[in-house]
Amino acid sequence: MYLETARLTLRHMEEGDFPDYLTYATDEETCRMLGTWRPKNEAEARESFEWLMVHEKRFYAMVLREEGRCVGHLIVQNFPDIGKLPELAGLEGRSLTFCVAPDYRRRGFAAEAVGAVVDYLFEKRGVDYVNSGYFTFNEPSRRLHEKLGFRPISHPTVPLPDGGEAVGVETIRFR
Ligand SMILES: CC(C)(COP(=O)(O)OP(=O)(O)OC[C@H]1O[C@@H](n2cnc3c(N)ncnc32)[C@H](O)[C@@H]1OP(=O)(O)O)[C@@H](O)C(=O)NCCC(=O)NCCS
Repeated sequence: MYLETARLTLRHMEEGDFPDYLTYATDEETCRMLGTWRPKNEAEARESFEWLMVHEKRFYAMVLREEGRCVGHLIVQNFPDIGKLPELAGLEGRSLTFCVAPDYRRRGFAAEAVGAVVDYLFEKRGVDYVNSGYFTFNEPSRRLHEKLGFRPISHPTVPLPDGGEAVGVETIRFR
């Protein structure tokens, strides 16, 4: 996937994006919202970056063209657990995870990027639905999903990296 929106280019993450990734990958609040293990220093951030580069085939950078910087990322996955819900049987779906660097929030970048990817998946890839989730305590993400037309479909309990768990909201948007 390669997409250009009004301000962003969405393309595969590249090695040269690591310094930008580092600016937000170690941010405690971002990791808490994503439910991911938090790298505590540059070496650990490098480990997480390399893991994503190897294991996530569709790990995309949101590049703000005006600044030539990666201001966030978006991951497209194929086999979300949500596909096991009986009402989705026989349908083809994709799942999205994303984040925007703290200094670039509230400027419409997530809405612009996610909206474009959803359109692309529906129009060019012919998928039937796109799914994305957030934790119940993630009000910014709840509002973003609502604004983009995603609707709650399930409320799974999700294990956290520290051993605890939290309630998530899985949402879906159909083509
Ligand atoms: C959630 C997140 C991706 C939003 O990114 P963003 O670029 O700031 O979002 P946008 O500027 O595109 O906002 C779009 C809409 O989302 C909602 N929103 C975003 N941030 C919000 C906030 N802090 N408070 C309330 N609503 C918010 C609003 O409805 C907003 O529309 P509006 O500006 O017209 O009111 C960002 O806060 C983030 O990366 N958080 C940490 C990781 C995460 O939670 N990822 C999502 C789970 S996969």
